[in-house]
Parts: sequence; structure tokens; C-alpha cells
Amino acid sequence: MSTAILSAPFQAEFDANSQEFAFAGVIRPRSVDEIAHSISALRHAIEQARGVLYINVKRLAQMNNTAFHAFSRVVLDACRTRSDIRFVVVTSSVVGWTERMFRHLGKIEPQITVEVYDSKFYPGQSFVEDTSFIPILRTQTKMTWRHERTILPRHGMRAGIHMADICCGIGDFAVLVRKEFQPARIVALDHSKASLAYARDVAANFGISDIEYTYGDASEMLLEDNQFDLVTCRHSLQIFNQPDLLLKELYRICKPGGRVYITNEKNSHCLGEPRSQSIQWTYNEVAKLFGHFEMDVELGPKSRRYLADAGFNDIRVESFMVTNLDGDPQDFADVITAWENVYAGEMAVKRGDPPEFIERFRQGFRDHIFAALHPKGYAGWPIWAASGRKPL
Ligand SMILES: C[S@@+](CC[C@H](N)C(=O)[O-])C[C@H]1O[C@@H](n2cnc3c(N)ncnc32)[C@H](O)[C@@H]1O
Repeated sequence: MSTAILSAPFQAEFDANSQEFAFAGVIRPRSVDEIAHSISALRHAIEQARGVLYINVKRLAQMNNTAFHAFSRVVLDACRTRSDIRFVVVTSSVVGWTERMFRHLGKIEPQITVEVYDSKFYPGQSFVEDTSFIPILRTQTKMTWRHERTILPRHGMRAGIHMADICCGIGDFAVLVRKEFQPARIVALDHSKASLAYARDVAANFGISDIEYTYGDASEMLLEDNQFDLVTCRHSLQIFNQPDLLLKELYRICKPGGRVYITNEKNSHCLGEPRSQSIQWTYNEVAKLFGHFEMDVELGPKSRRYLADAGFNDIRVESFMVTNLDGDPQDFADVITAWENVYAGEMAVKRGDPPEFIERFRQGFRDHIFAALHPKGYAGWPIWAASGRKPL
């Protein structure tokens, strides 16, 4: 199986505006001479810096001892001669070894601190990454797949392609795609260790070993440029507080001429009959609740603008409504129950909402379930599927 991560050449660059010296790639010199140029670039950066110099190792895939000691020497020497400067090494849990390696420098030199930037990098992270979201994801994909399996070929899905599902959650979409469309390669990346563990278990239970489940940060991926015919990212731009950063990365890893496919919701447009008013009130509140945690679950109809701003052309947008009539109405009721549990049971509590609010909030979900299961009822959840082509 080919490796998906950055290999060579390495980069060591200084950005004077942000006072940031960034290392990326694989740095494995046999002797210090091979990296002399980068060492003098670091010295130069230190000379120019005032206050804090950030040393960004978020995309540093590998660094051998020769390089680590040579660069560390420069920084440690600077700590001795420049009491006016502080160094902040910014690592990522995706390259966990960097934290362990650089933490050691912080212990010997108080002017150096080490931060793991993605331990709290977006406000909704704690809800989305722990196990509470798993039941939501499981039931949602079951409902959306009925629609997406016919939609996807219009957005570049076909047999034999190389594809990546970024923010793959519990990986069920990747499994369904593999079965239905037989791509030649699937990379499935997420930043939730709990969801990935679940995904790997499911794949193992189905005897699937060729989906490359990968731990990573979608806004700083270690994946190479221009390698996928289709990059999918479902229900995730809307939960990350900087969707444009994610799109920039999706664009980067997509081949010229390939497509990026995104799905997003507009929660306030969830609907149901009977009891429409209570349902509508609750879903308007869902949108506000997510907004409180800097997530935009109203993003669906904004997809076209996001894709255009990110540089895509041939943008295609379609919307579909998941309803209680798509299959067993109980499936839809299960989705709503999972929403109620997390949105009312966890997120509203975390926001500090009073019990009367939470009770009314819950009632809207219950009414939505009532509509879904009612013999003459109708319940809907609208979704926008959109894709854009990366110019040649
Ligand atoms: C709402 S879920 C959607 C999951 C899946 N695509 C689906 O539709 O079932 C959002 C997913 O995005 C992941 N995520 C959010 N920000 C991320 C980031 N910066 N890097 C990687 N994954 C991220 C979360 O861990 C979560 O699994």
C-alpha cells in the first residue's frame, strides 16, 4: 500500500510577519552540512525576531537526531545570548513524537515552551470527538446513503479512482463507497481517536483491510498535494470554526481536474407535521446552540460560495430531503433521538441553559419523532450536497 504522508523534500521557512519558523516534511540528514542552509535560516530568523519566535513543527513528519541536535543547539545558544526572546514550539498530536522530543527542551530552558495546538483547536471539539457523537453518525449515514449513492456519480464518484474521505467520522461512508463504487484507493482521515478506533473495528469485522484510516488534522494534513481524483468531506465544514482552512486543504490534496464533494445542513429547515411549530422552534434553537460553539449548521446553502471562494470551478449544488418515508420511519426517529441526547443532554447543558429551556428544547425533538412515526405524519431533514472541480 502506498504511503500517503509527506515524504520529501523538507521545508524550513521563516515568515517574518507571524514571527514563525516552520519545519515540514522529513528531515534526515547524514551530516549537519546537509542542513547548513536551514540552520543559518533559523539563526537569521532569531536575529530578526522580537518578543516571541514560534517554531511550527505541526507538519514535521520525521526528524533524525542529527537534525534535532543541530537545530536545538541554535535555539539553546540563543536563549543564553538573548534574554529578550521566548520560543514557543507549536506541535500537533498528529506528530505526537514532536511533543515528547521538544518538551525536553522546555525542561532545560525556561525561555522555551511547547504547545500542542490541536488539543483544543475548535470550540465544539469536545462534543464532536468523544464517543457521544458516534450514535449520531451511525444513524445519520444510514439515512443519507439512500440519497447519496445516486448523487455521488454526478460529483465524480466512479470505479477505480483514488479518493479521500476527510473528517470520516466512524468511517461507515468509506465502507459503503468501497462496496458500491470500488475505488482503487480510499484514505479516510479524522481527528477523533474514538471514532477512528470504532471505524477500524467495523472494517475488521467486515474483513476490510484496504481502507487507509488515518489520524490527522484536516486543516493541516500530512497528505501530499494533488493526489486524489475525489475528496469528500461530509457534514464537517459546518462543525469546524474555520471552514475555509479545511477547504484550502481539500483543494490542495485534490488532483487538478479532480473534484471536492461536501455535504452540509441547514438545521433550522428541519420540519415536520403535525406539531410543526414546536419542531421549528427547536431546530431554530439548534442552529443558535451550534452558533454558540462557533459551528455553522446553517452552512448548506452557503456551499456554492465557499467552493467558489476556495478557487473551484464547475460547481454543482443539489439538495435532498431525508424523510420518514425513505425507509423504516423508526430509522429517522433514531436519528432524532441521537440528536436530542447530544444537543439537549450535553450541549445545552454545557451552555448553561435553564431546565425550562431544555425541556421545551427536548419537546421539539419529541414532536419531530411523533411526526416521523405518525401514520399520516411527515418529517424531514434537508441536506446540501455540492462539489467543485479543481482547475487544471
Ligand atoms: C459531524 S462529524 C461527520 C463525520 C462523517 N463525515 C459523517 O458524515 O458521518 C464531523 C467529523 O469531523 C471531524 N473533524 C472535525 N474537525 C476536524 C479536523 N480539523 N481534522 C480532522 N477531523 C475533524 C470530527 O472528529 C468528526 O468525526
